[in-house]
Amino acid sequence: MSVDRCVCFNVSFAEMLELREQGLTFAEIRDQTGCCSGCGMCQPYCRLALATGAESIPILRGRDLARAWQADPDAGLASRESAPT
Ligand code: FES
Repeated sequence: MSVDRCVCFNVSFAEMLELREQGLTFAEIRDQTGCCSGCGMCQPYCRLALATGAESIPILRGRDLARAWQADPDAGLASRESAPT
């Protein structure tokens, strides 16, 4: 079993990653789609999806879930912004 979307707003990680490709930050994606602003259960999964580029994430428990909460969803943006053009 895996998670591939914010269920409250029916926004898939693939859609979030497309917005990421357009340069949107996690906060901007959240504002635009509503993800993570309902029940909040998806937030560690959304953070991890944006941090890693994964479109689907296995159900997380224990330490893995705690690590997902710590994932920097904008980490990819920072490295892209600092990359030479
Ligand atoms: S599943 Fe994303 S806010 Fe509820």
